Amino acid sequence: MSSDDASSSRGTQAPGPSANPLPSIDTLFHLERIPNQLTLLCLYMPLGVVLGFLRVFICFHTFLVTLLLPKTSVIRCYIVRAMCTILGLVVIEEEKNRDPEVKVFVANHVSIVDHWMLDLLQPCVLPSVWDIPCVLNWGHIYKSFSSPQEPNVVSLKSFIQSQQNVTLLGFPEAAISNGTALMRFTQTWPFELDVPVQAVAIKASRSSPFRDLSIATLDSSWFADLVWLLFCPWTTFHICRLPAVSRGREETVEEFSQRVAEMLAAQLGVRATPYTKAEKQELVKRLHRERLQVHRRSQEANARSNLYLVHMANQVKEVLPDVPLHVIMQDLQETNSVDSTISRIIDGVVSYIPEKRPTVEARGEPSNQTMPIQELLKTAKDVQVTFNTSASSFGSTAQERFQSYHERKTRLIENARMKYIQKHGIKI
Ligand SMILES: *[C@@H]1O[C@H](CO)[C@@H](O)[C@H](O)[C@H]1NC(C)=O
Ligand SMILES: *[C@@H]1O[C@H](CO)[C@@H](O)[C@H](O)[C@H]1NC(C)=O
Ligand SMILES: *[C@@H]1O[C@H](CO)[C@@H](O)[C@H](O)[C@H]1NC(C)=O
Ligand SMILES: *[C@@H]1O[C@H](CO)[C@@H](O)[C@H](O)[C@H]1NC(C)=O
Repeated sequence: MSSDDASSSRGTQAPGPSANPLPSIDTLFHLERIPNQLTLLCLYMPLGVVLGFLRVFICFHTFLVTLLLPKTSVIRCYIVRAMCTILGLVVIEEEKNRDPEVKVFVANHVSIVDHWMLDLLQPCVLPSVWDIPCVLNWGHIYKSFSSPQEPNVVSLKSFIQSQQNVTLLGFPEAAISNGTALMRFTQTWPFELDVPVQAVAIKASRSSPFRDLSIATLDSSWFADLVWLLFCPWTTFHICRLPAVSRGREETVEEFSQRVAEMLAAQLGVRATPYTKAEKQELVKRLHRERLQVHRRSQEANARSNLYLVHMANQVKEVLPDVPLHVIMQDLQETNSVDSTISRIIDGVVSYIPEKRPTVEARGEPSNQTMPIQELLKTAKDVQVTFNTSASSFGSTAQERFQSYHERKTRLIENARMKYIQKHGIKI
């Protein structure tokens, strides 16, 4: 199903907040971690680093506690919740709607710790892990049900029946967004189990000076997100459980999942958009390509301006051969004009140590006067003329020497001709 189809069908049936136009996909994610207020962040930096280090140790202890105490014990919930508060992860439960019958939660996904926060309120298990390594299976939250992408429905059902107080948790969006809108539900297993489903609305925020510091960016890694979570003073998670809903008799899995998506979007006060996880990945790739292109273009512009500088330096050097090339280049970078550099050098604004002007020898040896130009030409890649007029060997007979002399003469004339052509930029 293409995104156009999805958006048009949503547009006709969805009430409420979907009256406003569909937001574009790149408004669903923060592109930068730190938009502004850099000075404030710098001031907070030392404190934040110390806090972060301390919290890494507390994190380790919390991990131990979750391992030692049974998953469904009430004491564990309280202890871990208190420890999480110290870690800067504050959970506020707004609407309880506790229902012992509910075995499946579906939640919107705003950060890498959403499932941990939900687990503090009610022990839950997250089948299939998409972007978080198993090492961080804090409190036995993840469980693999055959395939990691789309867990096996039969084994999920038997799990629900075998466990008493543990709920299954699904993030049907399968990707983290910044909460501007709800993404399309692409994971359908929570709606295929024929049990009541409870939608959970999660809103994450940071308080005033850190409000603009995003919790997750478009292409951030889980590790970076975690480090920032530990660095910030605190992050508040407002969790609101909606009343449980069941699939109607006539309803397909697709329709049911859309109904739950609309409910969740209405609770969050946002729009349910047709964007999928795959489209998010496309966006990441597109932005990466664009960034590369900009970089390449700026490099090309740089190279072009360098070539132009070399060309100008060449002109100055012809007028003032005594002035060392690096001095000319330096001054040209400031003035960006041949005339003003020449007048500055003549007026003595630019000081330099005069280069010794080499004498051109009568012998056909490579003349040093052409060296700077030759160097310049080497940098300017596209022109390649050798000013080499030396003979390969000294001939033993008069005839050989005469021939060598002729060859060298023609080469010399040829070189002079090329030099002239290049100097005046004549195209042949
Ligand atoms: C999400 O990110 C976009 C920019 O990419 C921003 O305009 C929007 O306000 C953010 N939404 C929230 C809820 O922070
Ligand atoms: C499940 O929760 C109920 C009430 O909260 C409790 O009485 C029961 O012992 C719990 N069962 C398990 C296996 O923890
Ligand atoms: C030309 O310059 C090279 C190095 O730059 C030097 O070794 C050589 O002696 C110079 N030749 C003359 C004739 O000045
Ligand atoms: C100049 O040319 C001669 C023969 O043509 C060669 O032996 C010599 O190495 C060349 N010198 C340079 C600097 O290229």
